[in-house]
Amino acid sequence: MSSNADHSGETQDFRTLPEVPDEVFTAPLKRPAHVGEDWLEPAQTQYSSEDDAVWDDLFARQMEILPGRACSAMLHGLEKLDLGKGGVPDFGELSEELGKLTGWSVVPVPMLIPDHVFFWHLANRRFPAGNFIRTRETFDYIQEPDVFHDVFGHVPLLTDPTFADYMQEYGRAGWKAMRYNRLKALGALYWYTVEFGLIMENGEPRIYGAGISSGPTEAVFALEAESPNRIMLNVDRVMRTDYVIDDLQPTYFVIESFEDLYRQTVERDFDRLYRNLGASFTYANSAVIDVDNVVHRGTQEYFLRGGRGSSAKPV
Ligand SMILES: [Fe+2]
Repeated sequence: MSSNADHSGETQDFRTLPEVPDEVFTAPLKRPAHVGEDWLEPAQTQYSSEDDAVWDDLFARQMEILPGRACSAMLHGLEKLDLGKGGVPDFGELSEELGKLTGWSVVPVPMLIPDHVFFWHLANRRFPAGNFIRTRETFDYIQEPDVFHDVFGHVPLLTDPTFADYMQEYGRAGWKAMRYNRLKALGALYWYTVEFGLIMENGEPRIYGAGISSGPTEAVFALEAESPNRIMLNVDRVMRTDYVIDDLQPTYFVIESFEDLYRQTVERDFDRLYRNLGASFTYANSAVIDVDNVVHRGTQEYFLRGGRGSSAKPV
């Protein structure tokens, strides 16, 4: 995926937002009038004292859970960026710190943004973060990523040089997936790494995925519950695997290290992979297959009892 060349052999230029060819399908999101082609907000929101208090409470809750569960890169990143100093962090200050460490910046967006714009920002080492913060009513669960999920969950990992490079390569790879209309497959890779990934540290899985680290229940479930599978990551297999978007995951994939994740993806021949992939997923989200290197074979008990919306206790 390191190669910027598309399947016609041209090199993709990411300095300006590349055109989306007509034959490529992208989700029809309506662009708010106040944002430009890049979907960036003119400025970060001015947060109220209640917004800052929501951040502080979310931060305190996660920090009760994450030490000993989150990977060291995440915990070091939280410290380096001083994300617990009080209130919603200022993106300008964050960008300055991150810029010195890995050349990334954090930019405010109003909501989920279209895939092609998201990829373009990543390819230029800009992380688009939701400007708004959840309320007390949605404190425990919010479907659209807010500033807490994006900044607390994703940004600390961008202090790790290898992970930071992986995120840029992912953005570049997005354009190739679009041209093959295989965004779903690449989306599964994002889902099972950047959002719900686990990493081995001292022989034990630890959390690096933002979808896990920014919520209290999944941070425990992903590591300690009997229910989910934990399987060593194989990029080819993961890109053929369905996933759940509104509940805990039936399966988590574990990487050896960020170097291993980076190597597995940049060395993959994505042109070949996309040509061989069907339009739909091959494997169910709870499947364990012959080639899997299984760390823990889940009972799937949580899902068999009905998952979210039932009385099933996650852990
Ligand atoms: Fe996310």
